[in-house]
Amino acid sequence: MPRLAKKGTTTQLIVDDKPFIILGGELGNSTATTAENMKTVWSKLKTMNLSTVLVPVYWELIEPKEGKFDFKLYQDLILEARQNEMKLVFLWFGSWKNSMSSHAPAWVKLNQGKYPRVKDNTGRSQEILSSFSENVLQADKNAFENLMRFIKDFDSKDRTVILMQVENEIGMLPSARDYQTLANDAFYQPVPAELLQYMQNHKDQLVPEFYEIWKKNGYKTTGNWEEIFGKGLHTDEIFMAYFYADFTDKITEAGKKIYDLPMFVNAALNKAGREPGNYPSAGPLPHLMDVWKSAGKAIDFLSPDFYNPDFKHWCDLYTRQGDVLFVPEHVFDNSVAAKALYTIGHYEGLGFSPFSIESTQKPEEEPLGKMYGLIKELTPLITSHQGLGKIKGAMLSKSDQETIVRLGKYEFIVKHDYTLSWTPGARTETWPLASAIIIQTAENEFYIAGSGVVITTKSTENKDLNIGILKVDEGNFIDKQWTVKRHLNGDQTHQGRHINIGTNQFAIQRVEFYGYR
Ligand code: DGJ
Repeated sequence: MPRLAKKGTTTQLIVDDKPFIILGGELGNSTATTAENMKTVWSKLKTMNLSTVLVPVYWELIEPKEGKFDFKLYQDLILEARQNEMKLVFLWFGSWKNSMSSHAPAWVKLNQGKYPRVKDNTGRSQEILSSFSENVLQADKNAFENLMRFIKDFDSKDRTVILMQVENEIGMLPSARDYQTLANDAFYQPVPAELLQYMQNHKDQLVPEFYEIWKKNGYKTTGNWEEIFGKGLHTDEIFMAYFYADFTDKITEAGKKIYDLPMFVNAALNKAGREPGNYPSAGPLPHLMDVWKSAGKAIDFLSPDFYNPDFKHWCDLYTRQGDVLFVPEHVFDNSVAAKALYTIGHYEGLGFSPFSIESTQKPEEEPLGKMYGLIKELTPLITSHQGLGKIKGAMLSKSDQETIVRLGKYEFIVKHDYTLSWTPGARTETWPLASAIIIQTAENEFYIAGSGVVITTKSTENKDLNIGILKVDEGNFIDKQWTVKRHLNGDQTHQGRHINIGTNQFAIQRVEFYGYR
């Protein structure tokens, strides 16, 4: 079975008994609604070296009539993925997709008496199914169980489907909490023991934003939501987060009982300074991760969707409790190649996936495809060195031109290629995002890969020792064998002064260093 496994300080996704990196792309929302429409898509994905496609499974399409399931579309997609040597991550567009419940089948939408909607703070119903309704839970759970049974029956031999996302960008809008009767009743009940126990057991590890709220109210351990967390929109959001997580956990647990794939949830990131209710609130967001973890024990990890520029900031928040990083969505812009490598190099993440991956018109020219090509070649080297303190990543821009990383007895000063004054790009207005991965394979031996970087080295042990380049080769892993394309010297190393991968290059270099007095 595909599974998550701890290796040293990191977590790997094991697929077909080997650690796997998701070189992914998510399809636009309506692209995989027919197999016919997918015909022109597969070759693009292959050209860009994807290992994995993220594909929605729509509740409305698999259960158009209550209790009558149709998985033909997903059989076709799995067969096509196999033919194209790709794995699939299925995204369960069940009760919620971007806060809303637009993918619920008509028989759910048309029976509001049985399947109640969220009411906002003015009492108006929203097209959002209520997480407090047992009927909604049972209907969603039944559909998800049928989906997992289908995957088990159709795919457990080949294991093309490797990971499940449960629901999509859960979030409460346009008010911070649900005001329909079931929700109001729950709001005045005691906070569930599960959450309070979690808070007490993890008191020293809670995220500071959440800890401060609890502290401000005197670390109470019994009471209702307003007694424990105080009155305010922040409490409305915590309350909703708990019940969204609890609902999603039940779906996840039921699905895993049938077919035990790893499962995760994703979040629409909130904009700084906005109050709950003005962004999709209560989702698996960094300030709520303790609430989600306490109620979501069957959920393997929480992950961020990026339509927001501050990549490092948000990834740091998602990994601050030692959790694994996966980026299931990033707007498909010109930064994705660099960020994909940084996700693997710096965070030792499970993978990366731009959204609407099929929208490119020129897949053969996409920097992402070239970067995925490099990571693909490096995968055995990366995965065998993960979790051991042997891999570092760097990401550079015009406003963040230099970073220092340390590996063994070496300090690497990694700069943007355009910091070299003689590069034509140095005087340009916009600098492309650059990134590198450095893998230590022996005391003095490193593989350095990426695009747009220049690297010098120092000794971390002795400041009087000079570090020289003994040998640099540019090459590729062909059939897992390192194969030299060029020996680099002269201008390519600035006569032995630095390692350089130019801005439009995507390259791997094997480097040996030595010390001299
Ligand atoms: C995030 C969602 O998860 C996607 O399904 C899609 O709606 C994008 N936003 C925006 O296009």
